[in-house]
Amino acid sequence: MENKTHLVDEITGHRRMRRNRKADWTRRLVQENRLTVDDLIWPIFVIPGNGIVEPIPAMPGVNRMTVDKAVEAAKEAADLGIPALATFPNIEMELRDETGSNSLEKNNLINLASAAIKKAVPDIGVITDVALDPFTSHGHDGILRGNEIVNDETVEQVARAAVYQADAGADIIAPSEMMDGRIGAIRQALDAAGHQNVGIMSYATKFSSAFYGPYREAISTGGLLKGDKKTYYIDPANGTEAVRDAALDVEEGADMLMVKPGLPYLDICWRLKEAFGLPTFAYQVSGEYAMIKAAAANGWIDGDRVMLETLLAFKRAGCDGILTYFAMDVARHLAKK
Ligand code: PBG
Repeated sequence: MENKTHLVDEITGHRRMRRNRKADWTRRLVQENRLTVDDLIWPIFVIPGNGIVEPIPAMPGVNRMTVDKAVEAAKEAADLGIPALATFPNIEMELRDETGSNSLEKNNLINLASAAIKKAVPDIGVITDVALDPFTSHGHDGILRGNEIVNDETVEQVARAAVYQADAGADIIAPSEMMDGRIGAIRQALDAAGHQNVGIMSYATKFSSAFYGPYREAISTGGLLKGDKKTYYIDPANGTEAVRDAALDVEEGADMLMVKPGLPYLDICWRLKEAFGLPTFAYQVSGEYAMIKAAAANGWIDGDRVMLETLLAFKRAGCDGILTYFAMDVARHLAKK
């Protein structure tokens, strides 16, 4: 009589995938991707004032900090080996207007933060966004004229803002506002101002996503936003269009590409890396973070394991690094190992 063992042998022959999985040492030997502290970019939120660290309810474990506290946080991050920070300002409502004019103030909150961080912690990279949403009274990333977010006028403004950001010490300009032609314009403006060494990390494929909710709470734009961002962000349904959009950024001089949000768009990470071979990053955005935190707080998932698994998934999908609100937790976890 045939028994089960024979049957399996006939089907698999000598092929046994489980041989390489049989022990911790074999698993370590064959591991294809690894997450290290060098993969991490830590996004932080900066507020006006002094000595304040305030929690963001929809992002448990993430705080808004005044510049002095952000400097302390930057030191801690550098001590843990985190290569870079991405800073986002939550400015006073009185300073927000139709055109986001505060983005052109030399000493605005974001530039004060860059200067203070670079002075105290010169070896940590500072990445700043030039989108206008933290500065506009309507929460859009560009200048609103009538019902339209006007492209070219916005591009001129973000290019000027980029120069101020570089003057203040930003190492990499990361434009997230998805206007056409911005990468070339920013490159030109930086070069004309002598900032040849300041890089551009393009938010190359930024999707019109529902995952940004908690971020909008963090910089207080959620209540302001009129309408949606569908006329300038990419439709979540479109992968090939995203690759075309990224191709333009590469042509215009982007040094690095970013995909945002992260986990629902791993296919885009892979496609961009394959197509262009540029350093490619994913932004694990606020909603992704909040979902993991909420499920973990309920005891429905093991938060630490899910955090590490999602970040490793980005590596597997071809990313060189990840912007993640988990950066400090991960860095501490990796340091313990
Ligand atoms: C806008 C911007 C967004 C994020 C960073 N800059 C999206 C938005 O509000 O539309 C999202 C970051 C996150 O969700 O973590 N320029």
